[in-house]
Parts: sequence; C-alpha cells; structure tokens
Amino acid sequence: MLKYLSTLRLMPPSSITNILQGSWSIQVLKSAVELGIFEALTAGPTSAPAIAKKLNLQEKGVSLLADSLVALKLLDRSDLNGHARSSEPVYELNMASQTYLIAESPLFMGMYLKQHDELDKMWRNLRETIRTGKPVMAVNEDAKAEEIFPHLAEAIVPLNYCIAADVVKYLKERNKSDKKALNVLDLAAGSAVWSIPFAQDNRDNHVAALDFPAVLAVTRRITERFDVAAQYTEVPGNWRQIKLTPDLYDVIILGHILHSEGLEMTKQLLAYCFAALKPGGTLEIAEYMPNDERTAPPYALMFGLNMYLATTDGCIFSFEELTSLCLAAGFSHVYKHQGVEYDSPVVFATK
Ligand SMILES: C[S@@+](CC[C@H](N)C(=O)[O-])C[C@H]1O[C@@H](n2cnc3c(N)ncnc32)[C@H](O)[C@@H]1O
Repeated sequence: MLKYLSTLRLMPPSSITNILQGSWSIQVLKSAVELGIFEALTAGPTSAPAIAKKLNLQEKGVSLLADSLVALKLLDRSDLNGHARSSEPVYELNMASQTYLIAESPLFMGMYLKQHDELDKMWRNLRETIRTGKPVMAVNEDAKAEEIFPHLAEAIVPLNYCIAADVVKYLKERNKSDKKALNVLDLAAGSAVWSIPFAQDNRDNHVAALDFPAVLAVTRRITERFDVAAQYTEVPGNWRQIKLTPDLYDVIILGHILHSEGLEMTKQLLAYCFAALKPGGTLEIAEYMPNDERTAPPYALMFGLNMYLATTDGCIFSFEELTSLCLAAGFSHVYKHQGVEYDSPVVFATK
C-alpha cells in the first residue's frame, strides 16, 4: 500500500468532488424554487428570518439554503454591496433568478426543472444502455415524438430564447439587411422559440412552423403568449412526408432537431432545406456542439450520451462535421456565431 502510494503524484480529488457537488446543487435549486424562496424576495431584499417567517419555514434551514444560493450565484447579498457588513445578511434576487426562477417571468424555468427529473430517470439507465446498445426510448419515431415533444418543447423555451434573440441581431448586423420582410421556415418548430425573435423583429416577417399536429397546438399557444401568432402559419406533419415549394424561404431554422435524426437523416434534411431556400437564403442550425477535437465542452459531449439514451440514431456534430455536411448538401458558405455565455455556437449556411 505504502509502496503504491509513493508512486502516485498526490493531488486533491477536486475534479471528482466538483462533479459530486452537482447533485447537492440540484437539490438546493429545486428546493428553493419549490419552497418559494425566490418568490419571497420579489418584494425586495429580505433577511433569512423574515423569509422563514413569511414562508413558515425553519430559520436555520433558510439561512443555510440562502447562503448556498449566493455561492451558486442564484442570489445576491445586498448587505455586501459596497457597504460595511451589517449584523444580519440580507438576500436579494439577481439577474439569473429574476429572469428564470420567478413564476411570473415569461422565461420561468419551473417546467424545465420538472422535465429535468424525467431526464434523470432516463439517465439512470446509462450503464444498461452502454451494455446492450438499446436506447431507453426512441423519440425519433413518430409515436414517441408526439407523446414527448408537446411538453418538452415548451419546457425548453427559457433555455434558448435569449440566444435566439441575439442571433436575429447578429444576422441583421452581418447581412446589413434592409427592411425587406423575411419568409422563414421553422422546421421542427416545437415552441417556435428560434423563430419568435424573427417575428418580433419585423411585423411583416412571416413564419411557417412545421411540426407534428400535437406539437403545433403548443406552438400556437406560445406564439400567442409572445403576441406574434398572427404572423405564423402551420405546416402539420412529419417533414419526411411534406413536400416543400422550391426556392421559397429566406431563412430556414433547424433548432435542436439534427441530434435526434442521426447522420443519414441529417444528410437528407440538409438537402431538403437547401432545395426550399431561395438562392442566397440562410440556414440556421442550433445544436449542442462539441469542439472539433471532441474534448469539450462537457455539456455538449454528455448531450451525445443523452441522445444515445433517447434515440436509435441520434448524435452530436462538431462545427467541422456540420460544415462538411452542409457543403456536401450544396451550401456555399458555412459560418458560426459564438455569443458570450452560449453553450454552443449557432451555425449558418448560405445557399
Ligand atoms: C428538441 S425539440 C426542438 C424544438 C424547437 N426547435 C426548439 O429548439 O426548442 C425537437 C422538435 O422536433 C420535432 N420533430 C421531431 N421529428 C420530427 C419530424 N420527423 N417531423 C417534424 N417535426 C419533428 C418534435 O416534435 C419537436 O418539436
């Protein structure tokens, strides 16, 4: 034992303990949301005893939870903002909690947190799936897609809206676009989160939302919530059975669909989009993307496992791989935009 120890280069196991603290962080976040800690702070900065009194909780527990939330960057301590420390810590919402953890916010993540519990159940099968190669489910098949996606598509709105809005700004600056109205196809639209900012940007922009009928009911509700429903038409069905008019669209969006289609269907889908775009039109692809060497970022690489668990053929693509797939489908130019704090770049290809 001593001999073996002497052969090791000793270092603390922080790369492992950092991973393990993730499960505690999840409990801190979900408990705070469910106990109403964030809601209790909407009236303004509050101390732990006052939060506890308001919510009928134990003072010590609230204080420990609130300190952990500060450490996790989900709350601020207003008594530390440039002032001498007061005797009692006072907690307040920060930008993240105000935007994503308050029920009245249009980007509240409550529904996604519940969805995350479902994903967790699927992930518990990882060992078995790696042993057998059999996925837990096949969301790339129509029946499962119609069951899963109405809920999932709505739950992930807050994950992507901020990036989707930034993409519209980026494309406008890059293309120095005039005020010409755009004809957009949101293919596998789900909630329509990637096309809503196009509709908001110019009231004359028109979006065709293609998805299964059960999902389009959700698309309708969410576009109404964002006050853009009048700019949408619905294209119900499986894209593999829908014939599109050639050269019709200025922009086609593929938001988080390629990862469930797999390589062969992705080739077909890119060719399908190429035919339906106007010459000079733009294809927008949003995906969780590993770097070209497949060494980072962890979330994108683990998303590859997520799709291994959830589909028969799903996979993730690097920018290099997507570039060659788009060029092979006929696109002339492929580029990416990596905004600050994006999980992955968004990729564009020009017809
Ligand atoms: C992960 S969700 C993404 C939704 C949305 N684009 C987004 O990024 O939030 C995948 C969407 O693709 C749709 N979808 C999957 N396979 C499809 C197919 N063969 N034809 C049409 N829609 C499909 C699902 O119903 C679902 O709404």
